[in-house]
Parts: sequence; structure tokens; C-alpha cells
Amino acid sequence: MACSYPPAHAAVVVPTEAPQPGEVVVKVQWTASSPADLHQADGNLVTDYPFILGCSFAGTIVAVGPEDPSAVAPDSKSLEVGDRVCGYAMWQQKQSGFQTYVTVPRHMTGRIPENLSMEAAVTLPVNLPWPVPPNYTSQEADKPILVWGAAGSVGNYIVQVLRHWGYRNLLAVASKKHHNELKRFGATEVFDYSESNVVEQILAVAGHIPYDAPSSQQDCRPGTRVAVVVPIVIHHAMTKVEPQLTRDPSTVLVGEWKDGVEVIPIMTFFYQDNEYFKWHLQPDVIPALLRAGAIKPNKQRIIEAETLLERAQQALNLLRERVPSGERLVWRISDS
Ligand SMILES: NC(=O)c1ccc[n+]([C@@H]2O[C@H](COP(=O)([O-])OP(=O)(O)OC[C@H]3O[C@@H](n4cnc5c(N)ncnc54)[C@H](OP(=O)(O)O)[C@@H]3O)[C@@H](O)[C@H]2O)c1
Repeated sequence: MACSYPPAHAAVVVPTEAPQPGEVVVKVQWTASSPADLHQADGNLVTDYPFILGCSFAGTIVAVGPEDPSAVAPDSKSLEVGDRVCGYAMWQQKQSGFQTYVTVPRHMTGRIPENLSMEAAVTLPVNLPWPVPPNYTSQEADKPILVWGAAGSVGNYIVQVLRHWGYRNLLAVASKKHHNELKRFGATEVFDYSESNVVEQILAVAGHIPYDAPSSQQDCRPGTRVAVVVPIVIHHAMTKVEPQLTRDPSTVLVGEWKDGVEVIPIMTFFYQDNEYFKWHLQPDVIPALLRAGAIKPNKQRIIEAETLLERAQQALNLLRERVPSGERLVWRISDS
């Protein structure tokens, strides 16, 4: 007998966790879907079920726990009930963004500036000396920095953040439709990765590239650093195909990097290993960058569907189909 059923249905209710010392409870209004959700949903990264996905949230504080005597106070004013905040948190299930209330440490949230919508702020959570010292110039300000994937959320913020810190030789690779915006954000030169001679175009401007395939040995310059935002996707997740991912850059392109090139895996999830970033990145740095207009949130593609689960499912499907281009998938968690 033929039957029809939705791809997902509501099954789990989770208790709202009371705030412990240093924590706040946030009523979540908006969240954003990123490749990390897809890696977790399809990439065998989750072993215990039920599991709540979601790394970012924007909403309103509904409860503030007692002070944590061991916490380092933020530079900004203390959070209060009613404050509009956004945050990046995913280390415990009570923090994950795809639920109507999250209970999170205060330092994993920051106030949303008044002129910014929650759906714009929720695209942001994540990355640098702070505040930028007056007249600060990096000794490497004129060295070429290549950002491959500059239209993606990570790449887009990297270009803006580097521009804010005074780097002025930024080479951005993205499809042509994003070039004008990337130039406005600070890219010095832009390249289209769909053009067959893109590597030669970059070499003509930057003079060398650290990967051996299309260029000659004389392009080799020891000391080049390649920052790879992991996981490296070997095969992308598709509707019926599991992705193949690796966190270890030494297992890909083996023997193809030129001598003297340093390949560094980047894991933003561990930003709290840096004591300063732990206590200030979300409460102070991100709100200040937004207030100053130093970074502009990603463009948002709003996912519309009747229920939270349908919106979550639609977002995962769009990620599987690799639809997002220069935009973040953003959707409502609660309607009030
Ligand atoms: N380890 C960590 O802490 C961490 C943190 C965040 C993200 N990540 C990972 O970093 C990756 C990027 O994340 P994201 O949030 O920036 O993704 P995203 O916004 O969904 O990336 C989409 C963009 O990728 C670009 N793209 C696709 N194929 C490309 C190619 N061959 N060359 C250049 N650009 C290409 C597309 O550019 P066009 O529109 O120009 O086609 C598109 O705009 C993901 O794998 C994610 O899991 C890791």
C-alpha cells in the first residue's frame, strides 16, 4: 500500500537546563546551518543519539545564573534578562543551537548591536591582536595572502578580518558573481576558480604558489604557510552518498606539496584554548567589530517551512546539494 510520510517528525522533548554559575538561558529565535551540521549528520561524527545539532544561535536572554567566581569578567557590561545576544557554542547538548532554549556560559555569547537583525548576527560566530593597536601595521601587511573559497562564510570573514587588521595584499578566489563584493570587503585581486588558467593568473600576480601540480619548481618558496580549515572534504556528502572527510592534511596530496611548505590544520572549535579569546572573543570582540562596521554579516538565505524540523531538514538538504553560494542558511527556531 502506498503511503506518504514527511522526511522528519517531532519526537524528542528535552528539559530546559537551569543556569549554573556563569551561565545564561537564551530563548533562541534564529539559527544558521553550516557545513559542520552536514559533517555531523552524514559523516559518522555522532555516535550517541538523540543528538541536538547546531553551533550558533541568536535570541533573547530569559535567565541569568549566579556569578562564576572563577570567570574573567568581560570588558563589556554584564548581561541581563531581555538582552539580544548571539553566540557560538556546541560543547554540550544544552548549548546546541537547534532547540528553543539554550543554556550557555556567558562568555559564549555577545550582545547584538541595536542596528543589526538577529538573522544577520547569527551568521557570524567565529575569529584575532585586540583591540587593533593605533597605527598598527603587521610586518607582513604587504605579503600576498591567498584566500581560496573567499565566497564561503569562513573565507568571507577572513578577507574582512585581514583587511581590518591592515593586510593589503589579499588575493581572493571565488566565482565571478562575488568579485565586486569581495573587492569592497578588501580583496586586492580576485580570481575565478572555474577558469582553467586560474593558477597561472594567480602566479602572474603573486609570483609563487605552494602546490606543485600546475607550476614549476622555481615557484617554490620555503616558508610559505598553508592554513587548511579542516575537515578536508575528500568526497562531499550527497543525498545517498556518505561524505569522506579527514582532519589530517598530511594524508592528502601526499608528496605534492613543495619542500619547505608548512601545512597547518585550522580548528576554530578550539579557540578557547587561548585564554584571551575564551573570555573576550564572543562577549567583546565580535560585538565591537560589528558596531564599528569592520565586518559585515554574511548574506542570509532564509529557510521558510512550517515547523522547526522541516526547516532543519530543508537546510541539510540544501547543504547536501551544495546550494549555498556566498550566503548562510538561516532559519527561525521560535516564532515569538
Ligand atoms: N575546523 C573548523 O573550526 C571549521 C570552522 C568553520 C568551517 N569549517 C569548514 O570549512 C569549510 C568551509 O566552511 P564555510 O562555512 O565557509 O562553507 P560555505 O559558506 O558553505 O561554503 C560555500 C562556498 O564554497 C565555495 N566553493 C565551493 N567549491 C569551491 C572551489 N572549488 N573553490 C573555491 N570556492 C569554492 C562556494 O563559492 P562560490 O559561491 O564562489 O561558488 C560557496 O560560496 C567547510 O568544510 C567547513 O566544515 C571548519
